[in-house]
Amino acid sequence: MIPYQGVLQRFSSLLDLPEHARPVSLLEGDTPLIPAASLARELGGGFELFIKYEGLNPTGSFKDRGMTAAVSEALGRGASAVICASTGNTAASAAAYAARAGMRSVVLIPQGKVATGKLAGALAYGARVVQVNGSFDDALTMVIEMSNKHPLCLVNSINPYRIEGQKSAAFEVCDTLETAPDWLCLPVGNAGNITACWAGFKQYETLKSSGLPQLLGVQAEGAAPLVLGHPVEHPETVATAIRIGKPARGEQALQAAEESGGRIIAVSDAAILKMQQALARLEGIWVEPASAAGLAGLADELSAGRFDARGKRIVAICTGHGMKDPDIITQDFTCPTVVPPRLDALEEVLLR
Ligand code: F0G
Repeated sequence: MIPYQGVLQRFSSLLDLPEHARPVSLLEGDTPLIPAASLARELGGGFELFIKYEGLNPTGSFKDRGMTAAVSEALGRGASAVICASTGNTAASAAAYAARAGMRSVVLIPQGKVATGKLAGALAYGARVVQVNGSFDDALTMVIEMSNKHPLCLVNSINPYRIEGQKSAAFEVCDTLETAPDWLCLPVGNAGNITACWAGFKQYETLKSSGLPQLLGVQAEGAAPLVLGHPVEHPETVATAIRIGKPARGEQALQAAEESGGRIIAVSDAAILKMQQALARLEGIWVEPASAAGLAGLADELSAGRFDARGKRIVAICTGHGMKDPDIITQDFTCPTVVPPRLDALEEVLLR
C-alpha cells in the first residue's frame, strides 16, 4: 500500500494544477467523518448527522487543503514569498506551508481580532505578522495591492489553486458515504470554502454520479453580507474567523447555494456559542466558534420548521479546532477549584 501523501497526491487526477507545481504537503486532508447521533437526537432526531472534522488538519483548520495546492504552485514557479490577509486560520496555514517550502510568509490580520491559537501558530511557523488597524476586508484589499506591485504570491482564496485543493473535502465526504449527502451545512466567511465544496461535488457528480447535496451556508448575524444583500462596513461577531463584510467569492457562494436548491442564512452569536458547547458536550468534538455556525444554522432551521430533515443524511463541515480559540471557553468559566494534595480534601469537593 502506498502511504498517504496528502490531498494533491490522493486526488491528483481531479485537481487542476499546472505542470510546474512542486508538491509541498503536510499530509493534510483525510479527516474523519464522525457520526453525531446524540446531537442529531438533541435536534429532534429522525435524520443522520455527520461531522467532517476539519480541525484535524495539520494546522488545525480546513485551510491546509487549499494551501498545499497554492504553495505547491507558487514554489514550482519560483516564488520566494507568499502573502495573505487573514482572520487567523489562513495565516497559520500559509505560514506553515511556506516554512515547509523554504519560502517567506507575510500575513496581515485585523488588529486584536484574531484568536490566540491562530496568531501563535503564524508566529511559530515564522511568518512576518502585521496587524492592520481595520477589518479583514481592509487587509485583503492591501494584500491584493501588495501582490500586484511586489513579488509576493497571494494565497487568499481568490488564488484559484486554493479552490482546487479545497474541493478535496467534498471528494472525501462522497468517498466515505459512497454518495453525496442530502444536505451540507457549513460556515461562510470569505466564501471560498462553499465555492470549492460545490465545485467538488459537481465534479464528482459528473464523474461518478454521486449526487449533489443542497447547501446550507451560514453567516454570523453581525457579519452577514450575503444574507443582507450588501457589504457590511463594520462586521462584528464572536466567531472572528468569519468576521467578514465583503466576501471575495460572495457571488459564487450565492450562486452555489441557489444552484443546489439550498440557501445562505445568518445565526446569532448566542446560537453559535450554544452549538459549540452542545457539540463538545454531546459528541466530544470541540470546534472553534465559526466552525459551529453551520450546525447552529441547521438547528435554527429545524426549530423554526423551515427544514424537513426526516430520513435525510446531513453533513456539517466543522472547519477549525476548538484549541484555536481557547479564550472563548475559559473566559466564561470560573477558575477550577484548588485542593490540597489529600484524598479527604478531594472527597470533600467531589462528594459534598
Ligand atoms: N471557518 C473557519 C474556522 C475559518 O477560518 C473560515 C475562514 C471560515 C470558516 C470561512 O471560510 O472564508 O472560505 O468562507 N477563514 C479565513 C481566514 C477568512 O483568514 O482564516 P470561507
